[in-house]
Amino acid sequence: MPDAVKCARCGGLLAFELEDLGLSTQEVRHRFAQRRLSNDPLDQSGVWRYRDLLPPIEREYVVTLRENAVPLYQARTGASYTEARRLSYLHLGANPTASFKDAGMTVAMSQARQRGARVAVCASTGNTSASMAAYAARAGIAAVVLIPSSGISQAKMAQTLDYGATVIEVDGDFDRALELVRSLDPQRIALVNSVNPYRIEGQKCAALWLLEMRDWRPPDWVVMPGGNLGNSSAFGKGFREACALGLTDRVPRLAVVQASGAAPFSKLFRDGGELVPVKAKTSASAIEIGNPASWRKALREVQESGGVALDVSDEEIADARAVVGRDGIGCEPGSAAAVAGVKRLREEGVIGADEDVIAVLTGHVLKDGTYAAAYHASDARFANKLQRISDESALRDLIDSLQAVRA
Ligand code: F0G
Repeated sequence: MPDAVKCARCGGLLAFELEDLGLSTQEVRHRFAQRRLSNDPLDQSGVWRYRDLLPPIEREYVVTLRENAVPLYQARTGASYTEARRLSYLHLGANPTASFKDAGMTVAMSQARQRGARVAVCASTGNTSASMAAYAARAGIAAVVLIPSSGISQAKMAQTLDYGATVIEVDGDFDRALELVRSLDPQRIALVNSVNPYRIEGQKCAALWLLEMRDWRPPDWVVMPGGNLGNSSAFGKGFREACALGLTDRVPRLAVVQASGAAPFSKLFRDGGELVPVKAKTSASAIEIGNPASWRKALREVQESGGVALDVSDEEIADARAVVGRDGIGCEPGSAAAVAGVKRLREEGVIGADEDVIAVLTGHVLKDGTYAAAYHASDARFANKLQRISDESALRDLIDSLQAVRA
């Protein structure tokens, strides 16, 4: 099991099953709560704090950057923009390498280290690569990243190179890069894309952490972007396990939002049948994925939760991203698909005005500064144009006009 990512019989992705902990619900809650008072690095990590629910990995092999202990913020501008009054952001961009990937990477890399892997490999649109490179550097494991020929954002590239990974640009898109890494012998390398079930185990902890921050009260909806669909399947698994342990009494409805130019899962949700891969094209480069590996797992989670899948245009994503910025928070384009999705689901009446909604922000605003700069230099709805002034009196006039607005 530990070295493989697919079932020898059916070729499907593998998954862990939760074992009986032999503890009461109260004991489990108490154990998790106690760990928040501890200075042990494993307890400070919002992943290893839930280690009873993770596959066994010896402490000496654990590579942690204290990931997944991220904030939950009330959305103000976002709430009025989407008309979802009780909207909050779970900001996974507040992770050590500034994306949600760290929660999964800490488990995948620790397991790779435990089994003595020397080389870790992934295909990536940029965030997995930055995360893998950082954790591999900490683990003393060589890292090799395959990126699409369309490139990755400058910031993600900078992180990946800084952390010392070897970066290879493939002749093709993300889907081709993933195909290439999946052709490698999994015994010889650690494949750390989300087809690796250890990644999913780590990422499910974001669902547990969200619930724990809310005193185990589930929201009505959790809305998140979907690309390769590992994260949606991980959240669904986390919520189901929290329910199975009695930590919470129901699973929130999951909404998975894709970019319209990379929306095979949204189409599958509408039409049924099997997933039909597409040639992906979107300016939200993180989610430019046309052949998502985890679609079966994600579909199960969406359906079991009573959720939905949908897609939104690049323009809706761009405006939603700017709105998250106006809340003093910010996120990268791929993450903003979640907020654009909330707006759409409110317009369609799928989400009610008073429902309790979490938008999962998967990556930090600084992940793509070029995109943000281009938006603000454009004529887009929330563009914040650079101002120029000629002299002191023009500056005073500007301040006066702002005072008048605030008055
Ligand atoms: N949001 C961001 C910021 C991402 O980087 C990704 C995926 C997703 C959402 C979608 O998550 O694939 O689990 O459905 N990024 C991958 C990468 C593919 O290589 O960084 P998913």
